[in-house]
Amino acid sequence: MSFSTVPKLEDMPSLGSPKEDAKRAAAYLAVDENLNVFSHNVIGVGSGSTVVYVAERLGQYLKDLKFKDYMSKAVCVATGFQSKQLIIDNGLSYGIIEQNPDVDIAFDGADEVDYNLQLIKGGGACLFQEKLVSTSAKTFIVVADSSKRSPRLLGSNWRQGIPIEVVPPAYVRIKTKLLNEMGAVSVVLRQGGKAKAGPIVTDNNNFILDADFGQIDSPAELHEKIKLMVGVVETGLFIDNAAKVYFGNSDGTVEIQT
Ligand code: 5RP
Repeated sequence: MSFSTVPKLEDMPSLGSPKEDAKRAAAYLAVDENLNVFSHNVIGVGSGSTVVYVAERLGQYLKDLKFKDYMSKAVCVATGFQSKQLIIDNGLSYGIIEQNPDVDIAFDGADEVDYNLQLIKGGGACLFQEKLVSTSAKTFIVVADSSKRSPRLLGSNWRQGIPIEVVPPAYVRIKTKLLNEMGAVSVVLRQGGKAKAGPIVTDNNNFILDADFGQIDSPAELHEKIKLMVGVVETGLFIDNAAKVYFGNSDGTVEIQT
């Protein structure tokens, strides 16, 4: 693990929220430092509130006369419905991963990041497509505010656990096995909306179980064990995949973890 801190990128007016300022600082710097406008033809755009600023920055490159021609040739692949909307709303070209399976670079947020660059993702229930895009990318860059950093994964930043996408008919059996055989202290079927009007259905028509294991000492091992269960589509443990994490601070400085 190594950290470096970079000063505020440029003079940008505050968004009026320290958290949003932190997210924007991380996202803008991550794009500026890692996007090779001239050769990154397929760009993965993740999901969540921090990635909003990634898409915004990519949209700014598209308007920049110097880069316009190159950026207009780039295709962005999405990790879910929100991400597709971000691509379209920022004037970027949208492409499907089936036609663009070799992603040059992907940017995404995270719910928690440990000192070994292992992540918990899936707070927005998009973890399957997020993992597909990030593992298809030559370089995977994570953007987050600094509250997401943790020496070890605790699973406590989002709904107390690791999100697990499961095929609906298997959810009871998987929940029981997580509790009785795998050491989960609680497993909750994620509910939708404020009225909790039934389980959330993912972009792939599956359910999400949020499984709390407390502190996770061996994320790779736990991921592998969960994946072996019939009906598990993917886990929110992203192992050995991220190249760098950009943590934004509310004063506009950014810490980079490699
Ligand atoms: C969605 C995700 C998000 O990237 C993660 O929840 C972080 O979101 P935010 O940037 O809003 O904190 O994994 O499934």
